[in-house]
Formats: sequence, C-alpha cells, structure tokens
Amino acid sequence: MAEGTWYAGDIDRVIVTEDQIRAKTEELAKQIAADYADADSLLLVGVLKGALMFMADIARALGRYGPPVEVEFMAVSSYGQGTTSSGVVRILKDLDRDITGRHVIVVEDIVDSGLTLSWLMKYLRSRSAASVDVVALLRKPDAVKVQVPVRYVGFDIPSEFVVGYGLDFDERYRELPYVGVLKPEVYARS
Ligand code: IMP
Repeated sequence: MAEGTWYAGDIDRVIVTEDQIRAKTEELAKQIAADYADADSLLLVGVLKGALMFMADIARALGRYGPPVEVEFMAVSSYGQGTTSSGVVRILKDLDRDITGRHVIVVEDIVDSGLTLSWLMKYLRSRSAASVDVVALLRKPDAVKVQVPVRYVGFDIPSEFVVGYGLDFDERYRELPYVGVLKPEVYARS
C-alpha cells in the first residue's frame, strides 16, 4: 500500500474534488461575511462528527473575511451504522453555553432528508438565538422536499451515499480530502 492511499482502491469516483471544496469554502465565507458585516461576532455550531473538516475550513476562511467567530459543537444521532436515516434525533453532546442573543450559524456536512437539521434549528431557536442560519457543504435532492431553509449551500449532489471530508461509512473514510462514492464491493465485505 502506498503511503496515504489505502482508500484509493475503495473509491468508485470522486464527486467533489479537494480544489472544488477549497474554492467553494472561500466563496461561502465571503458571502457569510458580507451578510453578517454588521454582526459583532458569529457563533458557529458544528454538528459532529461529519462537519469536522468543513468546520475547520470555514472557520479559517471566515477569519480572512468575516467578523470574529466562536465555535461550539453538538453531536446528534440520526444515522446508525448503516447508510439510511433512522429519522430519530437524539442529543449526544449539547452546547456548552448559553446562546441567547447570538448569531448562530449551523455548520453541516450534508443535508439529506433534512430531519436532523429541521430538528436542530427548532432547538437552537428555542434557546433564544438572535438568528439561526445554516451553511451546508453538500445537499442531496431529498432535502429540497423538507422545509429546511439552508441559506448557504456548497454543492447539490445526487442522492447517493458519499464518504470523505468528514463523512464516514461505519466510521471510516472521514480523512479523505475529497467527497466520493464507494465501490459496491466495499459494502458487500462489511
Ligand atoms: P439527514 O437528517 O437525513 O439530513 O442526515 C443528516 C446526517 O446524516 C448528516 O449530517 C450526515 O452525518 C449523515 N449523512 C447523510 N447522508 C450521508 C452520506 O451520503 N454519507 C455519510 N453520511 C451521511
């Protein structure tokens, strides 16, 4: 196995490249910075674990263009160990502090059914945030059916299970620098 490429043989095709992610993150950060030019600060709420890469990159990009940011993380469970949504949202890790009066931006890896997000937005609003917006790197077609206003979207992708850039299959493939689709045999052997 060549160094750093253990996963290359498992990937059927790349959906979003590393360069595309970098350029899009920059673009989204500029938009957010322009929209929140008058805000004192932004509170980024990352949804673990999938948003880990995007959170780090969007926070750095906002550092170049926007108001000061603070970061918080929540962990909720919506998917089990497979590839379909259970529809059940459970808080595994809550916010560490009060968000009253704060401009909150939820940082999401992907919006699929939108179940997680619509639940999360209600929850954050109930905690008296001044505003709650969402930035999602990826969005699947089903998300359009649900009434979840995702203000900032990176890429609309087909309705396929993807991995990489934080997204996993059974906790693997999060470290890939791009977003891709696994070969069918990977599922067969797990
Ligand atoms: P939703 O509630 O169906 O919108 O799903 C939200 C969560 O499911 C995301 O934050 C991801 O963690 C996970 N998820 C949805 N689609 C995928 C995928 O294609 N690959 C990996 N995880 C996914």
